[in-house]
Amino acid sequence: MKTYRIASIPGDGIGKEVIAAGIEVLSSLAEKENFRLDFEAFDWSSERYLKTGAYIPDGGLEKLKTFDAIFFGAVGSPDVPDHISLWGLRLPICQGFDQYANVRPSRVLPGITSKLKGGDDIDWVIIRENSEGEYSGSGGRVHKGLPEELATETSVFTRVGVERIHRFAFELARKRPRKHLTLVTKSNAQRHGMVLWDEIFFEIKKQYPEVETDRVLVDAVTTRMVLKPGTLDTIVASNLHADILSDLAAALSGSLGIAPTANLNPERKFPSMFEPIHGSAFDITGKGIANPIATFWTASMMLEHLGEPKAAARLMKAIERTTEEQVFTPDLGGVHDTRAVTNAVKRAL
Ligand code: IPM
Ligand code: MG
Repeated sequence: MKTYRIASIPGDGIGKEVIAAGIEVLSSLAEKENFRLDFEAFDWSSERYLKTGAYIPDGGLEKLKTFDAIFFGAVGSPDVPDHISLWGLRLPICQGFDQYANVRPSRVLPGITSKLKGGDDIDWVIIRENSEGEYSGSGGRVHKGLPEELATETSVFTRVGVERIHRFAFELARKRPRKHLTLVTKSNAQRHGMVLWDEIFFEIKKQYPEVETDRVLVDAVTTRMVLKPGTLDTIVASNLHADILSDLAAALSGSLGIAPTANLNPERKFPSMFEPIHGSAFDITGKGIANPIATFWTASMMLEHLGEPKAAARLMKAIERTTEEQVFTPDLGGVHDTRAVTNAVKRAL
């Protein structure tokens, strides 16, 4: 029987709750679809950091490298500064495994009402550059605490990095029905890196005549997302810009609790990582009411990536059946808990 080895990293907060739900649903699906998923859990979390001083133990990434995919919950704790937890766990994996293409779909699932007028037109995929840009880590801080203290945060854009994300975006856009790709930058104000983004985009575009494109500045695209959602389809943007836009996209499509993401190494030299984008949500941790839909959706993306498109589609259908029946957690205005949504999706499978 075909077997996939999946590393699960529940991490912090509700990450533990939604990953448990995800493993339950995936295991039941695998049984029906005749393949095996071997999950191995890693306790890499803020709790571990506070106890041992490291999120990832020595040799951890080497071990993680041997898996077919990574199923990730969330990282972030009230007891650890956010920049420590992010740079301690999630970024070493994204950057270490060259997961440069971050894919973030948004759609108003059946039964969910968008707060936005015309929100039903939302069917977007945001492609976030995931290896450099504003998250390069380049910069520094000197004269700490002195009046002349100085800090720099340098965005780094390389031709290799920009070219590969644009190529990925064109490839994805051309497989979607509308074949439409929007380039989002801020090349009026950021006149070096973002101009490089624009230039390379139009170089690559020549190889994809079937894809229709447009270019919008990042501030202007927020108004377009809100006022004319149907005019957008696939969007490519830098690490920080796409981070911000994808939260807006999630809120407009119903809730942050349904939004999934895939951190892909398209060349498959390293495992890719699949996670909900909502984060650890300590305000609701332990209450059993976290929305597991984002995790189920990202699980479907993981199956697609592993080469199980039939199972991926079956899971997506089961998710849609569940939202159609409005088995909702409180973030979607419902009264159900994680368990009830998980059971509903398993029934629908
Ligand atoms: C995301 C998140 C992360 C990010 C946080 C948790 C650091 O917001 O995946 O969108 O900014 O990359
Ligand atoms: Mg974000």
